Amino acid sequence: MVTGPDSLYVTLLILLHSLTSESVKFEVLGPTEPIVAVAGDDIILPCYLKPNISVEDMTVDWLNLDFMDEHVYRYQNGRIIQEDQIHSYRGRTSLFIEELWRGNTSLKLTRVQGNDEGRYKCFIKSNNWYDDVSVQVLVKAVGSRPVVSIEGHREGGMGLVCQSEGWHPEPDLVWLDSKGVSLSAEPPETHRDLKGFYTVKQHVIVQETDTNLFTCRVLQKQINEDFETKVHIPSELFDYTTPWRLSFIVSCCLGVITVIASALTVYCIHKKKGKHYINV
Ligand SMILES: *[C@@H]1O[C@H](CO)[C@@H](O)[C@H](O)[C@H]1NC(C)=O
Ligand SMILES: *[C@@H]1O[C@H](CO)[C@@H](O)[C@H](O)[C@H]1NC(C)=O
Repeated sequence: MVTGPDSLYVTLLILLHSLTSESVKFEVLGPTEPIVAVAGDDIILPCYLKPNISVEDMTVDWLNLDFMDEHVYRYQNGRIIQEDQIHSYRGRTSLFIEELWRGNTSLKLTRVQGNDEGRYKCFIKSNNWYDDVSVQVLVKAVGSRPVVSIEGHREGGMGLVCQSEGWHPEPDLVWLDSKGVSLSAEPPETHRDLKGFYTVKQHVIVQETDTNLFTCRVLQKQINEDFETKVHIPSELFDYTTPWRLSFIVSCCLGVITVIASALTVYCIHKKKGKHYINV
């Protein structure tokens, strides 16, 4: 066994070395489960250092792995770097600045939208060390109740169209008869808007049945949501000899006239009231 000042010196050296290297090295940790966000909500993407040392002098990069050269958020030399920020994240991201001194680099993302879904990376770099962690984000958006419109006579039947918007992930749309049997329809049309929400639309041509009841159902299995709208087509509409279009237009016009008439009435009453008050 070695004793004396030499061994003390060696022990001190080892201790000093382990102390300095420990103060330099760190691990970046995040959630093990995906973060499930409801569209429109504000969420926190957790990320922090172990040990919980300050990152105030480090670079913190939040990246979306679908975007190569731009970032979601960057903090460097005590400043927020705005250049090369992915456009859709502008004004919606922040770090908890008061938490940085204890190694908490969680990202706050406000007003979640469909295209925020994806894999993120929290990357932290000091002068001589770096590490990162991935965070998965899933976005749920329940769309609108399907709207059914009658398009008129089509290829020996009645043309109907169903549309539902504002979904994430992409939903399925089916047309059903009154017994719940799916009808053969045209291929569905899907549109994704700038915020990443889906609109689905599908045309169908139906034949007259004993009930003339048809259902449009929109369902999203992953988020376990579904909506349906039923439509009843009066038999007369299937009859080619009925100028149904004309009767439809007439009833529409009547409707519009009624609305205008009642609006005018309300307006006149208000006007009278106004005058009344002015006179008093
Ligand atoms: C850092 O972590 C230690 C041990 O995990 C804990 O006792 C301490 O309160 C933390 N410090 C801060 C500033 O969060
Ligand atoms: C980081 O800060 C946020 C906001 O204050 C907080 O919700 C979160 O729990 C913190 N994370 C850790 C690991 O301290």
